[in-house]
Amino acid sequence: MDAFVADVEARLTAAAGARLVVGIAGAPGSGKSTAAVVLQNRLRVETVLVPMDGFHLANEQLERLGRRQRKGAPDTFDAAGYVALLERCRAAGPETIYAPRFVREIEESYAAAIALPSSARVVLTEGNYLLLDAAPWNELDRVIDVRYHLEIDDDVRVERLIARHIAFGKSPDDARAWSLGPDEANARLVERSSHRADALLRL
Ligand SMILES: Nc1ncnc2c1ncn2[C@@H]1O[C@H](COP(=O)(O)OP(=O)(O)OP(=O)(O)O)[C@@H](O)[C@H]1O
Ligand SMILES: [Mg+2]
Repeated sequence: MDAFVADVEARLTAAAGARLVVGIAGAPGSGKSTAAVVLQNRLRVETVLVPMDGFHLANEQLERLGRRQRKGAPDTFDAAGYVALLERCRAAGPETIYAPRFVREIEESYAAAIALPSSARVVLTEGNYLLLDAAPWNELDRVIDVRYHLEIDDDVRVERLIARHIAFGKSPDDARAWSLGPDEANARLVERSSHRADALLRL
């Protein structure tokens, strides 16, 4: 974590006062959200978290599209909305920008739950598909200034993922099935795009 903080701080210095959009990519359960909060607390400049998972399509849209059982796959997010919002964040105009927040307890997002004031220096985003080389995700290539891929041993990751699914209400069997099924397919996709990261991160 120390090297990670130092790297972001060096990039901030190089940005010479401009707002910096920093991304943490990684497989489901790799620790992105946890790492993002630690980094936010360590940085000495105003940093706001704008996670990718706020852009999950609502369950009513997933039902309409017949994709409820694959929630978390790339096409189950409003990727274009995410790109557009980060573009606005990067432009750093005088207005407060609002972003949606995914709430795991209800598995839905609240619109405009996150406020990004014009004074924020760093916008920190994290999610599965920040490095995906497919439209519209690859528009993030020009929108996020620096992207890290979070590495973790797969057995540790899957163990934590199962535990978290259970903590949020799934039965042990369902937690295991979801972690080794849809989550695993998404994890393979994320790993295949990890070489596109500016730097690898292992905490
Ligand atoms: N360093 C750590 N030590 C122990 N547990 C951790 C650590 N980092 C994360 N965890 C736990 O592992 C689980 C997954 O972490 P986290 O939610 O940060 O991952 P994520 O990459 O954001 O997952 P998702 O892709 O599903 O959003 C959580 O229950 C978290 O509390
Ligand atoms: Mg997360």
